[in-house]
Amino acid sequence: MEKFIINGGKPLVGEVRISGAKNAAVAIIPASILAGGTCIIDNVPMISDVEVALEILSTMGAVIHRLEKNKIEIDTSGINDSKVPYELARSTRGSSYFLGALLGRFKKASVPLPGGCDIGSRPIDQHIKCFEALGATVNISQGIVDAQADRLIGTQIYFDKVTVGGTINALLACCQADGLTIIENAAKEPHIVDLANFLNSMGADIMGAGTDVIKIKGVHSMHGAEYSVIPDQIEAGTFMVATAATGGNVLLKNVIPKHLEPITVKLRKIGVTVEIEDDVDNMRVIGAKRYHGTDIKTEPHPGFPTDMQPQMTTLLSMCEGTSMVTESIFETRFKYVEELRRMNADITVDSRVAVVKGVDKLMGAPVKACDLRAGAALIIAGLCAEGTTEIEDIHHIERGYEEMEVKLRGLGADIVKRYFPDDKDMRKAL
Ligand code: EPU
Repeated sequence: MEKFIINGGKPLVGEVRISGAKNAAVAIIPASILAGGTCIIDNVPMISDVEVALEILSTMGAVIHRLEKNKIEIDTSGINDSKVPYELARSTRGSSYFLGALLGRFKKASVPLPGGCDIGSRPIDQHIKCFEALGATVNISQGIVDAQADRLIGTQIYFDKVTVGGTINALLACCQADGLTIIENAAKEPHIVDLANFLNSMGADIMGAGTDVIKIKGVHSMHGAEYSVIPDQIEAGTFMVATAATGGNVLLKNVIPKHLEPITVKLRKIGVTVEIEDDVDNMRVIGAKRYHGTDIKTEPHPGFPTDMQPQMTTLLSMCEGTSMVTESIFETRFKYVEELRRMNADITVDSRVAVVKGVDKLMGAPVKACDLRAGAALIIAGLCAEGTTEIEDIHHIERGYEEMEVKLRGLGADIVKRYFPDDKDMRKAL
């Protein structure tokens, strides 16, 4: 078992380059199926969720070459299978995007129900409603979603709820449908726009991505393209909060400041300095000794992102006064609070609301990452805490952050990844 060992108390100082966006990459990789040719994709983060998406593609017959560390070539012309293997699908949420992409190209798809972070019930009823509206028949049996259609016909799709995954699957399925599709109440996250831009570069005709009404004129065929993934909004936000929490001074490179506005606004409100240079993809965060708390409510973009809630709650746990954090997207995204309490945080959770009373300092402790962003929050806590923090189950963190500990060490943090033989290893050795 691998753990992060952190000796806290060092401010983060220096420069860090933000990687490509996980949630854009895990949609763009399956989207390459629609090209039926070769795509070159740059700024791809090397994280385990991306590795899984690439493995799914290659088991289906795609040919993949790594051109550089973060640049890959994918040839999907030889895909001869529309089934995604169970073992791969169950580990990530992004595996559900193979449904839309395979249905769009082959008019049939067989994909196990997706996995991903355990942060609440994560149904896919809206995805299915959209495939059915386009004319597909969808059956779910023994955890496998089977979708097929003779042809897909453009239509009007109204999502009952704003859904990132549902909007992505709708875009993938309807690019090559006959006629016009209008998606209403669409998600507006930066990675929705990035996916639409990628699809357009492959010949799709999509307008309005980034607003809540997206119009897609079906095209007869699509082709390969070269594309670069946008920088990761949540990785950047995590480094912003970590810098603020440790009272550091960090220049974040390769960011899109506009995407970070909901985070910047809250950080400025509590007393953090955030400097943005016009026309440059850089941003400087300068921390202070003390901050005053504030209230946060997570909402779909452009609201405060749920994927930043655990990191921000950790920072608020060290701010003066009481802050209220309301989680309105996922019902069980406060599981990590128990771990923060072991580190001296004073937080109580009642259903979707956490009441965070600021403490003078956090104390190092052995803790467990229960999901990706929870793990990032515990790293931030460990960087600030007095003494040593040991974080278990770091595979969750490695699903979505590229070389997190290496980047943090580059900023002066005392963090290492260490291997500890677990009970299974011990039994093997006997
Ligand atoms: N929902 C439904 N029915 C559906 C789809 C969603 O009821 O058919 C509900 C969900 O239960 C949830 C809400 O709608 O309450 C929003 O879910 P959404 O579909 O937007 O989330 P997702 O597509 O499952 C993506 C990201 C998450 C991120 C959310 C919200 C990917 C691979 N995952 O999940 O990312 O939290 O959008 O922004 O893009 C993460 O990166 O740590 C992460 C969990």
